[in-house]
Formats: sequence, C-alpha cells, structure tokens
Amino acid sequence: MTEFAVRPLAEGEQRPAFDVLSQSLHGPVSTDERWAKRAEGFPAERKFGAFEGGTVIGVTSSIATELAVPGGTTLPSAAVDGVGVRADSTRRGVLTALMAEQLADCAARGEVLAHLHASETTIYGRFGYAVATRGKTLRILKGRARFRDDAPSGGRVRLVGTDAAKKLIPELYERIAPNSPGMMTRPPVWWNWARDGLVGENFVAVHTGPDGDDGFVLYHPQDRRSFEQPEAGAALVVRDLHAANTGALAGLWRFLCRVDLVGEVRAPDRPLDDPIGLMLTDPRACEVLGLEDSTWLRLVDVPVALAARTYRPAAPVVLEVTDPLLPANSGRYRVAPEGATRTEEPAGLALGVDTLAMIYLGDRAPSRLAALNRIEVRDPAALPEADALFATATAPWCGTPF
Ligand SMILES: CC(C)(COP(=O)(O)OP(=O)(O)OC[C@H]1O[C@@H](n2cnc3c(N)ncnc32)[C@H](O)[C@@H]1OP(=O)(O)O)[C@@H](O)C(=O)NCCC(=O)NCCS
Repeated sequence: MTEFAVRPLAEGEQRPAFDVLSQSLHGPVSTDERWAKRAEGFPAERKFGAFEGGTVIGVTSSIATELAVPGGTTLPSAAVDGVGVRADSTRRGVLTALMAEQLADCAARGEVLAHLHASETTIYGRFGYAVATRGKTLRILKGRARFRDDAPSGGRVRLVGTDAAKKLIPELYERIAPNSPGMMTRPPVWWNWARDGLVGENFVAVHTGPDGDDGFVLYHPQDRRSFEQPEAGAALVVRDLHAANTGALAGLWRFLCRVDLVGEVRAPDRPLDDPIGLMLTDPRACEVLGLEDSTWLRLVDVPVALAARTYRPAAPVVLEVTDPLLPANSGRYRVAPEGATRTEEPAGLALGVDTLAMIYLGDRAPSRLAALNRIEVRDPAALPEADALFATATAPWCGTPF
C-alpha cells in the first residue's frame, strides 16, 4: 500500500521539506528568522520529496562533489545529506522510494559514486551503501607530549581572524585537497553551510611552509575545570585539520600541543593512519578514544568506478558483482594492474555492490571479508591477488562533515 508519491522538490517547497527534516532529527519547526538564515543553504535543486495528499512527509538531498579514489583521480559523487521521514510516516517504504529515485537521478547525471554519513548503521546497507572510510578520535595528553628530535619541523603557524578566515580557508582547502582516497571537494553550497558555523565559531590557525600556506586547523577550547579539578586545563577540540604534507601536519600538531592553559587536545574523525602518535617520544601520550564509521559509499556506475582507480602489481582477478537496485552494474569485471574492464571470463570472486564499496577505497582487504562470508570465493588463488590489487598505501579518509 503506497499512498504517497516521490518527485523532485519544486521551488517554494523547500521550507516544509526543511521542517520535515528538522523534526525527523528532533529539531524545531523553523521560525521566519531561522528560515531566513537557512534558505540559501537549502535550495530545491537535487532534493526529492515524498508527498501524501499534497504534504511533504519525507525528503532526501545531495550536493554535487568530487571524491578522490586510489591513484589520485577524482570522480563525480553525490554527497547525500538531508534525509528524513516524518515520525508518523516511517516504516512504510518512504525512504526506500526516495533512495531509488535519488540513485536513478545520480546515474542519469553521470555521477559515478554517492556517499554519505549515516545517523544509524542499519539504514543504508540495503541500498548498496557500505562503510568505505573510518575515522578515529584522538586525545593527546599535553603534559606527556614531547616531539621526537627527528619529527618533521620547520614552517610557522599564524592565527587568522574570522573574516579573513572565511575567505582564506575555502581557498586553501581547494588548493591542498582532496589529496588522499576518500576525500571530497567542498563546493560553494557546502561552504554556505560551513562558513559561519565551522569557520566562524572556531579559532583558525594556518601553517606556512616553503611554498606558502599549506595547512590549517580550526579548533575551540572546552572548559574542563570542576570542584574536584579546579586547575584542569582546557581541552582543545579540533574541528577541521588539513595539511598538504607531513611537515605542515607536524607543524599544526606542534602548535596545538603548545597552546597555553590546555591539558589535552581532542581530535575526532582523524585518519586511521594519522601519524601524530609516531612523532612523540611517548606514543602513549596519544590515546585512541574511539573508532567510527565515516563514509558510506555507493558505487553508482561500477564499470567507470573500477576503471578510474589504480591497482597494485598482482595477477588479474575476475569479480562477479551483483547489484539488485542498479542492475546495469551487475556482471563480471577483470581487474588488473593496467585497469579494469567488463569480461565474460569466469569469476574468481563474487560479491555484492555494497561489499565492493568496502574494498574500493582500500579500507578493507578482500580476504578479511571473504572470511566473513561477504565474498564468495570460487577460485582460492584469486583472493591474495585481490588483496594485493586493491591495497593502498594510505588509509582512506573523508575529513569533511556534511
Ligand atoms: C531513517 C529513516 C529516514 C527511514 O525512513 P523510513 O521511511 O522509515 O524507511 P523505510 O520504510 O523505507 O525502511 C526500509 C527498511 O529499512 C528499515 N529501516 C529504516 N530505517 C531504519 C532504522 N533507523 N533502524 C532500523 N531499520 C530501519 C525498515 O525497517 C525497512 O526494513 P524492511 O524493508 O525489512 O521492512 C527515518 O526513520 C528517519 O527519518 N529517521 C530519523 C532521521 C534520520 O536518522 N535520518 C537519516 C540521516 S543519515
């Protein structure tokens, strides 16, 4: 029984759709003042609504970005956000209908990938998404954090005022990123949302190396004093940290660990291989507080996606991919160091399009997923070759909230 219809959102329908989204996330219905502030960042373009009797009951949205894949190529990717269904209309298939429409639209636009951050891990697997990057939350205990003599050094760090930062940081990000698999471009519509919140509400420090500005960090202090610990130094909370090279990364971490009246630096969503711990004389001064899933990736155009990334030296492997939602992706692909193409050869490994997303950026090794029955092994010799082909030198990382 479906009494609702899904279609692109029309001009003038943004505000009720925004309110559905806000309430689905336990937020308020917009006041005129709040809507005036949010309208620019909530265009009708790229949004789909589910309507029942003329009323919006569900919404999904996306922004057009480019996402970096192993080898350095970037691919058009829909960054899916703004997903919500009215609490009185859930579990009737509204999201399922919205996702089908949105994925068909991505394919029609020639977008090769779609990616999102999930509020709950049970939602998106059924639509072909799977975890393709993860992040870790770090705590650096300032009192124990001494940099090794051989840790990269040089360059300098300066604080930048808010108004200057709102112009400088988007330009700097565009120049230095995306520079590793999983990172995405940040289009103007993203900055409309982030300029005031992310940049405007944080301290901004910029690193300058031999070739000019090459890294930045946005952070704010959090008071930790209490009756028990009246002299506890603040926690510096890192909101956004990007560097073009290890020298700039080291310079920014050194700066953060040197700020006065601070007991610890907390940095959520850092790359799994962030090297800060290895730069310290006491690596345990850098604690890992948590590990979170970050990018949920969906391969919208499997042949183009597979052909676009690079592969490491190994014998060719044939993958049989199954994609019930976008059946044009189903089929066999020969993956080799010189590239990936469709083939009629028999497959050594068979997997769903969601599992393919888990190995695509290099986050998981095929053999580990085969051991969990996520990959069917038809030719055992194919498994170590697939591990070698898909391996990457750096851990994939997104580093952009949306
Ligand atoms: C998540 C949400 C959009 C799902 O919408 P929905 O219209 O209820 O989803 P559907 O009815 O199409 O569900 C499809 C399937 O997914 C399951 N599912 C959907 N959301 C789920 C959830 N949060 N937890 C567990 N299962 C969920 C449904 O049970 C259903 O399974 P079935 O096909 O086996 O019956 C909706 O619950 C919501 O708005 N939640 C709050 C806001 C939110 O978390 N948004 C996502 C931001 S990333």
